[in-house]
Amino acid sequence: MTIYLDHNATTALDPAVFEAMRPYLIEHHGNPSSIHSPGRIARTAIDNAREQVADLVGAHPTQLIFTSGGTEANNLALNVLACREVGTFCVSAIEHPAVLEPAYQWQARGWELELVPVDANSIVDKFAVAKMLRRKPVLLSLMMANNETGTVQPVESLAHQAREHGVIVHTDAVQAAGKISVDFNALGVHLMSLSSHKIYGPKGVGALVVDKALDIPPLLLGGGHEKGRRSGTENVAAIVGFAKAAELARDQLDRRSRHTLDLRNRLESALNTIAGVHIIAETAQRLPNTTLIAVSGVEGETLLMSLDAKGIAVSSGSACASGDTEPSHVLRAMGLDDSLAQSTVRVSFGKDSTQAECDAAIVAIRELTQMSQKMASVAW
Ligand SMILES: Cc1ncc(COP(=O)(O)O)c(C=O)c1O
Repeated sequence: MTIYLDHNATTALDPAVFEAMRPYLIEHHGNPSSIHSPGRIARTAIDNAREQVADLVGAHPTQLIFTSGGTEANNLALNVLACREVGTFCVSAIEHPAVLEPAYQWQARGWELELVPVDANSIVDKFAVAKMLRRKPVLLSLMMANNETGTVQPVESLAHQAREHGVIVHTDAVQAAGKISVDFNALGVHLMSLSSHKIYGPKGVGALVVDKALDIPPLLLGGGHEKGRRSGTENVAAIVGFAKAAELARDQLDRRSRHTLDLRNRLESALNTIAGVHIIAETAQRLPNTTLIAVSGVEGETLLMSLDAKGIAVSSGSACASGDTEPSHVLRAMGLDDSLAQSTVRVSFGKDSTQAECDAAIVAIRELTQMSQKMASVAW
């Protein structure tokens, strides 16, 4: 059995989520736009799901647009620029590619893109943001928690500052939701992206939460679903699954968070005793489940493959960038030395991870580190 320690990449479907979805995969196959009773059953399921997902982040159900996942939610959020006069917008340098790539597209269409720098812990530079805000950008996009390092960003204070300048604020909360408390209104953001498969829900479904006062042009045009904001027949079973996952995440937030933090602390205390192992952004406020480690002199990909051979699944840098041997844009933005940046692996615990799995990872990392250090000294 694989020891799966890559929960920031994706999570397994919770059996309770599967049970909630099952009737909508088989029995209740109606189209929610149909007005007959099978259609109405599907519509009611979506309405209920909207309430449950909104509840996870303290939003109003009418503020939610269901999407095909976090990527679409981020693309849609940036589409807020589509109906505004061309100007400047700001995006943090450590955003997920699902924000950065659309941002580059907007730049190619004539918008001026300002990348917000981060410090050595991958926390955005507040002074740089304050300076940028004085230029009255149209939008500021700042993720709540980074998928690679796990660092939690000061979204609330910056969002309130940005609002004073009339700036629209988007936060990608895909990694934060279900791991730390996330409150749409308290944060003071206008737009928030969510994804189901990071919280034990099905893949291919997510949501964008939108401030009621904000007009956002749709990416997909068609039958006018989601009140014209996202056309396409709804994936009812997936939406129901997302909602069940959101309900469980909200109810179990404290337990999951304490559990993963205990495991992470156990892992980090052990790794701190191994020469050549560094924990990245160790002193920063991070997601409770995430640790990014660098092992001097060992390629991250090599470490990942060696751990995989021992039945332990972790990720090197961003899951989406895996297979890419270049240091990730996040580690570059932090100013991490290139050779150390190439030596990183991310361990991300989940609600069902165990102490035994954590200990197996410690033993394997220790063995691999010591073995490669021995080989390096022989080579000298
Ligand atoms: C921070 C962040 N944003 C967005 C996404 C994309 O979400 P999805 O896989 O649902 O498209 C991910 C996925 O890894 C992510 O970590």
